[in-house]
Amino acid sequence: KVVAVIMVGGPTKGTRFRPLSFNTPKPLFPLAGQAMVHHPISACKKIPNLAQIFLIGFYEEREFALYVSSISNELKVPVRYLREDKPHGSAGGIYYFRDLIMEDSPSHIFLLNCDVCSSFPLPDMLEAHIKYGGMGTMLVIKVSAESANEFGELVADPVTKELLHYTEKPETFVSDLINCGVYVFTPDVFNAIEDVSTHREGRANLRRVSSFEALQSATRNLPTDFVRLDQDILSPLAGKKQLYTYETMDFWEQIKTPGMSLKCSSLYLSQFRFTSSHLLASGDGIKNATIVGDVYIHPSAKVHPTAKIGPNVSLSANVRVGAGVRLISCIVLDDVEIKENAVVIHSIVGWKSSIGKWSRVQAEGDYNAKLGITILGEAVTVEDEVVVINSIVLPNKTLNVSVQEEIIL
Ligand code: GDD
Repeated sequence: KVVAVIMVGGPTKGTRFRPLSFNTPKPLFPLAGQAMVHHPISACKKIPNLAQIFLIGFYEEREFALYVSSISNELKVPVRYLREDKPHGSAGGIYYFRDLIMEDSPSHIFLLNCDVCSSFPLPDMLEAHIKYGGMGTMLVIKVSAESANEFGELVADPVTKELLHYTEKPETFVSDLINCGVYVFTPDVFNAIEDVSTHREGRANLRRVSSFEALQSATRNLPTDFVRLDQDILSPLAGKKQLYTYETMDFWEQIKTPGMSLKCSSLYLSQFRFTSSHLLASGDGIKNATIVGDVYIHPSAKVHPTAKIGPNVSLSANVRVGAGVRLISCIVLDDVEIKENAVVIHSIVGWKSSIGKWSRVQAEGDYNAKLGITILGEAVTVEDEVVVINSIVLPNKTLNVSVQEEIIL
């Protein structure tokens, strides 16, 4: 049997995702009309002999209750949310729940970060992992040398694929091969985490008798039950024939900012063409709106037949789109109203917002720039004939004048 664990973090993480994470946990923010965490979960469904999926985080239980029960029914695989009382780090979190994770005596445990966008080639990883015979195999990808320092950089043996060297977000360039935050382990990983934990405990006891406390580095002062997978497990075990790499040639992105969520929504929409084409809208321009490229429209959304939508648009529940509206590259969240002849381009429109007649909400579409997409927080009102360009508008604001390159607090 195999189990999968998805690390979802908690309310103190994901701060770069504001203002979209004020009221909704980031893992439940919709990409291509499905919660962010839905994409790794549905990828897990393809793992042979999958017994259970655990989501581990420190959000309140109730925030995930509805989601886990509906996804369990939909996929016919038990999905459980396990809440940590405090953050234990990416490895400490699975160690904390080791008894539950080992309940079905799985031979393998998948571990996935929830904030990555990928095709998640999990069955291929498992096959490679069994062939390598190590304790763990991680998904890796080549990125540009300039962006590599945002990730864990690593060196792998070109032939055996063994992980030889690992450094988390190094200041000086090590390698353009990076850690994708997707792993498969044998249950031995729990022993490795325990070793780090007891090691720290030993040092903590030592500190009480010696007075070298000031010499201890920040890492050594971490609580004994806080263990990071990258720094505390991957780095020290590199080059010891226990960790291996599996390189993906398919798409992969990290989702830390709203801009990246718009990009990842587009990647998942194009993946739907092959995996879930029934979720993509089709329009004839007579009874239904004109659809361009990949578009998701929730069944409860109401779109006027003279609207033109796409590419890369996703419309959530109860969205209303008026006559003559043009939407390009945007995520429109629940209960939004977009009135006649408004235009929305490269933007995210928050829950319950409304955009007036002939208004424009737009940006250049540079996903990595701070103001590269326009974001309207929850319940923002853009009045008629107002233009909002490259701006972030915090929740509950009303805009009656046009703005450009502004953060409206
Ligand atoms: N439950 C729980 N508890 N989840 C956590 C905790 C914790 O204490 N700490 C982090 N996470 C979750 C986050 O929500 C995220 O999904 C994942 O674990 C990794 O988060 P971070 O530890 O903050 O690392 P990162 O995202 O900056 O970088 C990691 O992922 C990159 C790939 O996206 C590193 O492993 C990098 O090396 C890697 O490139």
